[in-house]
Amino acid sequence: MGFCVAVFASGGGSNFQALVDHAIEYSVELLVTNRPNVGALQRAERLEIPAQVIVPASYKNEELYSKAVIQLLEQQRIDLIALAGYLSKISAQLIHDFSGPILNIHPSLLPRFGGKGLYGKHVHQAVIDAKETTSGATVHIVDEEYDTGPIILQESIPVLGNDTPDSLALRVLNIEHQLYPKVINLFAQKRVKLTGRHATILPSLHDH
Ligand code: GRF
Repeated sequence: MGFCVAVFASGGGSNFQALVDHAIEYSVELLVTNRPNVGALQRAERLEIPAQVIVPASYKNEELYSKAVIQLLEQQRIDLIALAGYLSKISAQLIHDFSGPILNIHPSLLPRFGGKGLYGKHVHQAVIDAKETTSGATVHIVDEEYDTGPIILQESIPVLGNDTPDSLALRVLNIEHQLYPKVINLFAQKRVKLTGRHATILPSLHDH
């Protein structure tokens, strides 16, 4: 049995698509969304990947919500959850109940430009307003706060003088599409070692 990944998305799902397209050591076996009629759902249908709409607010409490999600994850034998533009907070209960890693991708160089309210275009606007000369993408472990979990890998790009939030978002998104599958391939190969908050990438066996 290979390494199975569930992607949680609330939007267009371009990262979901990239995770499917660049899967080498893992396979994407499930899409979960909190919103009906999103682009990610259409992509799942086209890709013939099972998809489920789960609206957290429709459950009486966090425990029941977490139970429903865990049951679904177990059915598909999911080893890792990848949040990709998932705009709903993952409850502490679910973090506690799921035995594998939960990752997120954020379109800035965390810890800069993260936290509540800093999502989508707001991130890139803040980067431009702060006159930053570099930005990028970060893959990190999800903890109970927004964007504060241990950083696994980052990739940076220059911010150009004439960048708008849209142009910067587009270039960062291109980076995300490379970075996220790369990190999940590393997890599938058991090459990510976490010591406290510090992640080390272990060399590939083929490097010897
Ligand atoms: C990405 O920029 C991601 O970093 C952020 O939300 C966006 C999702 O885009 N968390 P998509 O739905 O994957 O196209």
